[in-house]
Amino acid sequence: SRVVKLAVIPGDGIGPEVIAEAVKVLDAVTAGGETVFEKTPFSLGAARYLETGDTLTDDDLDAIRAHDAILLGAVGGQPGDPRLKDANIERGLLLKLRFELDHYVNLRPSKLFAGAPGPLAEPGEVDFVVVREGTEGPYVGNGGSIRRGTPHEVANETSVNTAYGVERVVRYAFELAERRDNRLTLVHKTNVLVNAGGLWKRVVDEVAQEHPGVAVDYLHVDAATIFLVTNPSRFDVIVTDNLFGDILTDLAGAVTGGIGLAASGNINPTGAFPSMFEPVHGSAPDIAGQQKADPTAAILSVALLLDHLGLRDEAARVQQAVEADIAERGAARSTAQIGDAIIARLRA
Ligand code: NAD
Ligand code: IPM
Ligand code: MN
Repeated sequence: SRVVKLAVIPGDGIGPEVIAEAVKVLDAVTAGGETVFEKTPFSLGAARYLETGDTLTDDDLDAIRAHDAILLGAVGGQPGDPRLKDANIERGLLLKLRFELDHYVNLRPSKLFAGAPGPLAEPGEVDFVVVREGTEGPYVGNGGSIRRGTPHEVANETSVNTAYGVERVVRYAFELAERRDNRLTLVHKTNVLVNAGGLWKRVVDEVAQEHPGVAVDYLHVDAATIFLVTNPSRFDVIVTDNLFGDILTDLAGAVTGGIGLAASGNINPTGAFPSMFEPVHGSAPDIAGQQKADPTAAILSVALLLDHLGLRDEAARVQQAVEADIAERGAARSTAQIGDAIIARLRA
């Protein structure tokens, strides 16, 4: 049998609640199969920081790197918690993992499942994927500030865009479009961000030459938010930078049934480092510890994980069980009740 070493990082807030259900689903769908998942739990996040002062040590990183894949819930404490003032859990943990493990594709599918409680009156068929660049852009942290706290404070954030980094994610997006509906939309803000936008546009135009079957479109990010709401069917594959992709995918989640359904993969397509799967949402301190969180995004992230590992049949079974559950959602259920209902569908 094949052994997959899986690092599990439940994290903070609702993270542990949704990951408990995701792991139950993973166990159920792989039970008795050829592939055995050896899971290592990692206690990381705001809670760990408050206890030990550590965010992600070199030893943690080395240990995680020795795994085949990672499943993460969410990290981040209560916004405004004074004890976390000097910690930046998001940057020091989540972004550090994405950068160190070179997760240059942040894959965020959005599909409006039958019965999902979308806000749009006539959504039509909604099934697109945002390919969000994961290692560059304004997330690099290459900024600084001077005269902090004075009336003359200067605060700079620099967006880093390399030809290498843009080209590799754009190539991935074109290849994905060829496996889907052959439509690709670049989203940027080339009218204002002329340097970064110019690079993205040129790279897309160049790579497009190699993929004549893919219809290429361009939208400024502000206009893209309009069409995500008024005509989401126009999208198949969206390729965009790290920050625009972050913003668009929360909106995409809201349009396709809520952030509780939105899954993602932080992927290193070369296989050099373990890829990481996580819901798009955060630690939701407002509902944490109350069994109110929807674990579906975490469970669909398990489907992405299985697919990434080549376990297509298992991935499809999870996906189908989730779709069946969404199609027949009734009264409000607890986090565990949703997980159990999806597992019951798997076994049916
Ligand atoms: P959030 O996604 O945690 O919450 C936004 C809203 O969505 C809240 O009202 C929340 O209750 C709701 N929500 C989120 N997930 C849900 C679920 N599964 N079921 C039902 N409702 C759900 O975003 P935020 O409030 O901006 O951030 C909270 C913390 O999480 C911050 O510290 C932030 O930095 C962090 N964060 C972490 C990740 C991550 O680890 N990947 C992602 C986003 C935000
Ligand atoms: C996400 C989150 C992260 C991001 C934060 C917590 C760093 O919002 O995964 O979407 O901006 O990428
Ligand atoms: Mn986000």
